[in-house]
Amino acid sequence: MGWGRVTMSSELQAAILGTGSYVPARRLTNQDFEKTLETTDEWITTRTGIRARRIAAPDEATSDLCARAASAAIEDAGIAPADLDLILVSTLTPDYMMPSTACVLQKKLGLSGRAIPAFDLNAACSGYVYGLATAKAYVEAGLAKHVLVVGAEVLSRVLNYQDRSTCILFGDGAGATVVGRHTPGGRSHRIREVNLWADGRDTESLLIPAGGSVHPASHTTVDEKLHCVKVNGKEVFRFAVSKMLGMVKDTIERNGWTAEQIGRIIPHQANYRILESACERLNLPMDLFFTNLAEYGNTSAASVPLALDEAARAGKLPAGKPVILVAFGAGMTWACAVLEW
Ligand code: UT7
Repeated sequence: MGWGRVTMSSELQAAILGTGSYVPARRLTNQDFEKTLETTDEWITTRTGIRARRIAAPDEATSDLCARAASAAIEDAGIAPADLDLILVSTLTPDYMMPSTACVLQKKLGLSGRAIPAFDLNAACSGYVYGLATAKAYVEAGLAKHVLVVGAEVLSRVLNYQDRSTCILFGDGAGATVVGRHTPGGRSHRIREVNLWADGRDTESLLIPAGGSVHPASHTTVDEKLHCVKVNGKEVFRFAVSKMLGMVKDTIERNGWTAEQIGRIIPHQANYRILESACERLNLPMDLFFTNLAEYGNTSAASVPLALDEAARAGKLPAGKPVILVAFGAGMTWACAVLEW
């Protein structure tokens, strides 16, 4: 099972100390798509639950979104940027193939010259929870006191806006958290467990085919739009429902919780119907799930931390109750975490 649980006996316990998020100003609505694609607001809303998504300005890169979200999380944690001793960025839309977006972020946070580790992590839409697991391991091993974990994407740069089955799903955004040592009674939210999984059998259903070593950039890859996201919608939908269901069921049953004992479930924001399907089969009330996908669409690695920050700031995470994070994505990868809020 998940290795995150192994560290529970550690004397040091990791906790979320602060959260932050940022979305670009430009809002692209379903009605906007009606003008350029053979689609309707009604189709998009009923099939996905998405009504709008945010699009980064031409001069905004992933690291810019990271910096805005990170600054808010650092402020919320009540620390200074200089207190960070590890920077993690989960993204599938980095600024560059190299250097890492985490190093660019380090510079943008004014931390150039401070020799702390910084690296990117790619687990697609599960990326933030993978980052959280890494941060927890570092903190509980005594290797770091304050870890910045950011999930950020500028997916609008890797979408084919002529492909109506894909472009309507995704948006840009960033969410960040500061992970540090848990102090009981303090304003810290213990990360009780994190569980990660991957299965490389299906690496085709969610894919950006070109730009890596298999299909390096060429005129052909550009002409054939192979630098854009390709989704096998039906296959991913099936996978997502089964993993959402499995992770939530296992977490609830293993902990012996009833629906009333759970504070909130924060799922990866991919499709409202995936959540409805999980709720129905688990007999859980839909309002247990925090959703913001109507406004932002699927922001991949940003989705869970963006929702976590919004839910926290809106007072939608009841104190003293567990918060379950669940994510799934390309790889295929899936991951879940339990926080004590
Ligand atoms: O983080 C994970 C990332 N991936 C996902 O979240 C994708 C998960 N999958 C899904 O959310 C759903 O499969 C979709 C929303 C992508 C598609 O929903 P669906 O109910 O599986 O629709 P479909 O693919 O079966 O398409 C039904 C029809 C097709 O037409 P035909 O072949 O039946 O004539 C599509 O061409 O709907 C058509 N269609 C559209 N029509 C209007 C596809 N996209 C659109 C569109 N507007 N935007």
